[in-house]
Amino acid sequence: MNAITFTGVSKSYDTVRAVETLDLEIGAGQAVALLGPNGAGKSTSIGMLLGLVRPSGGTVTVFGDSPDAAVRAGKVGAMLQDGSLVAGVTVREVVEFVRGLYPEPMPLDEVLSLANLTSLARRRADQLSGGQAQRVRFAIAIAGAPRLLVLDEPTAAMDVESRRSFWASMREYAAGGRTILFATHYMEEADENADRIIVMARGRIVADGTAQVIKAAAGGRTVRFTIGEQPTVGLDTLPGVTGVELRGGTAQLRTTDPDATVQALYASGIQVRDLEVKGADLEDAFLSLTGDNQN
Ligand SMILES: Nc1ncnc2c1ncn2[C@@H]1O[C@H](COP(=O)(O)OP(=O)(O)OP(=O)(O)O)[C@@H](O)[C@H]1O
Ligand SMILES: [Mg+2]
Repeated sequence: MNAITFTGVSKSYDTVRAVETLDLEIGAGQAVALLGPNGAGKSTSIGMLLGLVRPSGGTVTVFGDSPDAAVRAGKVGAMLQDGSLVAGVTVREVVEFVRGLYPEPMPLDEVLSLANLTSLARRRADQLSGGQAQRVRFAIAIAGAPRLLVLDEPTAAMDVESRRSFWASMREYAAGGRTILFATHYMEEADENADRIIVMARGRIVADGTAQVIKAAAGGRTVRFTIGEQPTVGLDTLPGVTGVELRGGTAQLRTTDPDATVQALYASGIQVRDLEVKGADLEDAFLSLTGDNQN
């Protein structure tokens, strides 16, 4: 049985089409990353999956049930982008409270240790740093030992060390055959922690596959230089070039073969200044992946 199924799911907020006819199946035991720029529809999709947002059309099921039923049965744990923590109680009390809501919770010590909170257990949950509070949100998400763990940008506000230990815990949690879905903006996080990456942009899935497949689709390099007032004819026919953008005296070439492009560029007689070669950034890649779908 699939952990998650979206069938023709859409969501509009007044005039904003946040999610457009989403079809998606996630098998039990997979760790899946949801990648995409701001406003892509990641949180909206996660909201529908948790029964917090009602779809405008289509059906979402979680382990074959409605999201509400799956959540009520304790099959789902979630870490949301903007959950605030209860005031006046300790970390330990928060975790104990959440454990009490689930039929077969994880032992308290295990939750605290996985979330790296053992030494903060007696601290007040509303008096923690941003990164520490994120760890408490993670503890809340796993306290019930849910079969499906949904995390919306879990490492936002975490420092490098916290991130590392967070992902190690997440992988440990996933290892028992559990299903994980997490939203992120970071390609490396998706690459290192997911079996499958789904890229969303403008409410649609624009790529879906292993990290290798996605990176190839999002691949390519950018060659940038100052071109000034010189004629720009022929830039698009340089070897490897798949796109040319000119803005304020700067030329930006997308290329599949930066070495060949740069060599030909110098040979072309154009006076090249401030040359820069870099990997296409993800935002660019998302836009190129959405291609003609944009309006
Ligand atoms: N409650 C709401 N009311 C109106 N519009 C909304 C609401 N929530 C989201 N939207 C709009 O829906 C679209 C998708 O938003 P969503 O929060 O799902 O994106 P996201 O991929 O999670 O982005 P981010 O990376 O910034 O978290 C955006 O255009 C957003 O402005
Ligand atoms: Mg979001």
